[in-house]
Amino acid sequence: MATHDDDDEDDINPVTMILPDDQDDTMRFRTIQEGASEQHLQQHYVRSIDSTLLIRQLPSQGLSFQLWPAATTLVTLLDQHRCQPTNNPLSSTLLGHGHPLNILELGSGTGLVGIAAAATLGANVTVTDLPHVIPNLLFNAEANADVLTANGGAIRVEPLRWGEADDVKLIGRDFDLILASDVVYHDHLYDPLLETMRLLLLGSAGTENGRAKAFVMAHLRRWKKDSAFFKKAKKRFQVEVLHVDSPSEGCRVGVVVYRFVEKLMNSNSGSSASNSA
Ligand SMILES: C[S@@+](CC[C@H](N)C(=O)[O-])C[C@H]1O[C@@H](n2cnc3c(N)ncnc32)[C@H](O)[C@@H]1O
Repeated sequence: MATHDDDDEDDINPVTMILPDDQDDTMRFRTIQEGASEQHLQQHYVRSIDSTLLIRQLPSQGLSFQLWPAATTLVTLLDQHRCQPTNNPLSSTLLGHGHPLNILELGSGTGLVGIAAAATLGANVTVTDLPHVIPNLLFNAEANADVLTANGGAIRVEPLRWGEADDVKLIGRDFDLILASDVVYHDHLYDPLLETMRLLLLGSAGTENGRAKAFVMAHLRRWKKDSAFFKKAKKRFQVEVLHVDSPSEGCRVGVVVYRFVEKLMNSNSGSSASNSA
């Protein structure tokens, strides 16, 4: 069921994929070209912890080695949450758990979101992706080890292929929160991703602290077909919109952050609160 997605790169619209420099004033981005090796070392200043995260991108190796726009939306929200924990789109999801939070990230790519979550929340974060992406994730985790230690965060790097029940078994399900950014992009990956979400959220509605385990996903819609993923997801999960970014230049839509929780058996189908997606 695991899929090496880089074969499908032609489908991706690069205009909506590339991250514009200096787009967000809460972080500073700088790209350093490392000679002929096509490594991009990108610095992300995270204001709330007054620290700079360093991320290596390897564009020539494919989509999994580049930073996607929805990732920066989540990093910005995490940064803002650290400054104002009670007044943030992520507050209702992040507050009320024990400390430290245990977080799992799916399809981590460069790992920026997971690393920022660990640093800003002082959380234990497991970043995951397809096996061939793991070496770069390990590199990026190691590159930020000092910032993580200084902020009480920890990163674990593990392979996790969507749709593979054995991979979920190996990683375990002991997480307060599941995170992902820009993981809905090829339709052949919808079912494997939904299956992994199901395995991870299974039986989590109405946990002992009254807080359902949630899957928080930032998504930039590129194609009409993306709606098929949400249609399928709503059959199984309650889906709520937590945040909508303004569109960046050249885009018709902005990044949207969704929250998925397991549906209670007798809940009304498809609808959750006023912000239902
Ligand atoms: C579009 S990239 C987004 C990367 C990162 N989350 C970001 O926002 O920068 C999608 C990620 O999902 C991963 N992925 C694709 N298919 C997968 C699968 N079957 N199992 C696990 N991860 C997968 C890719 O390797 C890639 O890192």
